[in-house]
Amino acid sequence: MIDLQPVKGTRDFFPDEMRLRNWLFEVWRNVSEQAGFEEYDTCVLEHEELYVRKTGDEISKQLYSFEDKGGRRLSLRPEMTPSLARLVLQQEKSLSFPIKWFSMPQCFRYERMTKGRRREHFQWNADIIGQHEVVAEAEILMLLISACESMGLSTNDFRVFINDRRILNAILSQINVPQVLHSEVMVIMDKRDKIPPEALSKMLEEMRMTTKQVGQLNEYLSKSDLEELRENLKNTEGIEELQHLMKLMETAGYKNYLQFDISIVRGLSYYTGAVFEVNSPEKQHRAICGGGRYDSLLSTYGGETVPAVGFGFGDVVVLDVLKELERFPELPRKLDYTIIPFANEQIGTALKIAAELRLQGSTVDCNFSMKKMKKMMQQAHESGAAKAILLFPDELSDDKVVIRDMQLHEQKPVRITDLFSSAE
Ligand code: HAM
Repeated sequence: MIDLQPVKGTRDFFPDEMRLRNWLFEVWRNVSEQAGFEEYDTCVLEHEELYVRKTGDEISKQLYSFEDKGGRRLSLRPEMTPSLARLVLQQEKSLSFPIKWFSMPQCFRYERMTKGRRREHFQWNADIIGQHEVVAEAEILMLLISACESMGLSTNDFRVFINDRRILNAILSQINVPQVLHSEVMVIMDKRDKIPPEALSKMLEEMRMTTKQVGQLNEYLSKSDLEELRENLKNTEGIEELQHLMKLMETAGYKNYLQFDISIVRGLSYYTGAVFEVNSPEKQHRAICGGGRYDSLLSTYGGETVPAVGFGFGDVVVLDVLKELERFPELPRKLDYTIIPFANEQIGTALKIAAELRLQGSTVDCNFSMKKMKKMMQQAHESGAAKAILLFPDELSDDKVVIRDMQLHEQKPVRITDLFSSAE
């Protein structure tokens, strides 16, 4: 017997789970389109080189990569941003910037499996490319907040924790960590919540930081007030940009969702400005969503410097959160009609009625099991049908069928021709 379980870390979606996934996708697609984002997609297979980075990003070590029969090094995509960069570079000359694009790809990472992290997930991505000013961050944050609100989440349930990589750069420069090490140091700093402080300090020292520098860094990272930081740092560009963004968000009416948090780094080395994640106010989950500004990614692929900001919002954590809060939407199976013939000679008529009703836009199933009436009514009920159409021989000989309202448990004969004109 073959193994019937899905590959470790991947999921099967039975119809009940599929309804939930479709609901989530619909929320993502609706809010994206409402905010003027256009949908795009790429193939799940990419050239491996797209993900190879010098900075030791975790993601580059988690690739599902292989050589194809033509000797190409390929990988299943672990994230969408490099593919997006590839698309933009392909049409850089003809695109009218800024562009606002979204996508809902399935991504694969060979992760150590913990709560909220799997080896496959769907990840809604929305990005604005070609906009330098923080209005792009504001639009991006408003989009993801509106998605959370559409799912029934409020300020009691989630926060956007935000920082700016330039603040972290300013801190590292101030304590004399050479610029070339900043990205790698940040990849390590991102592990702060996941590994003990001593192990983290050791990793930083292995990165050629001195014990004194590690101590100074921890001192800075204990500050939670932007103004206090501003007084202590020479380079305050990141702080000013963040304050500007916060002001915009306040004017737009979203202030309560935002919280400055110096511990937010995000693990991807390509972020250059704002970095943010969504979590519960007490941060008790893995990030529901993560993103930031990445102004140099396209230039690392050989293009010009194109400013970009966006996020990835996975399906796994948010569904865990909604489940815990008992906010799963009611998603019963739904059908307008189920047609029930009682003899083989009626099958053709059942198919004909189904075809006509479907043409009129109704959702229609037929039950050809020829089981006992009680069993078929039970199945009609389980199918979520609003009405059952019963093909009793007596009524049929009179060109009629019996329609049963499954909610009211009432039934009446109806002329077949009337059925079509009255179908909604
Ligand atoms: P990321 O922080 O690696 O960013 O992932 C973004 C989100 O994807 C996470 O917050 C989480 O919701 C989900 N996610 C990531 N890995 C897993 C996993 N193994 N299992 C379940 N969910 C996961 C990126 O991927 C960036 N490319 C996002 C981005 C777009 N930045 C700018 N534009």
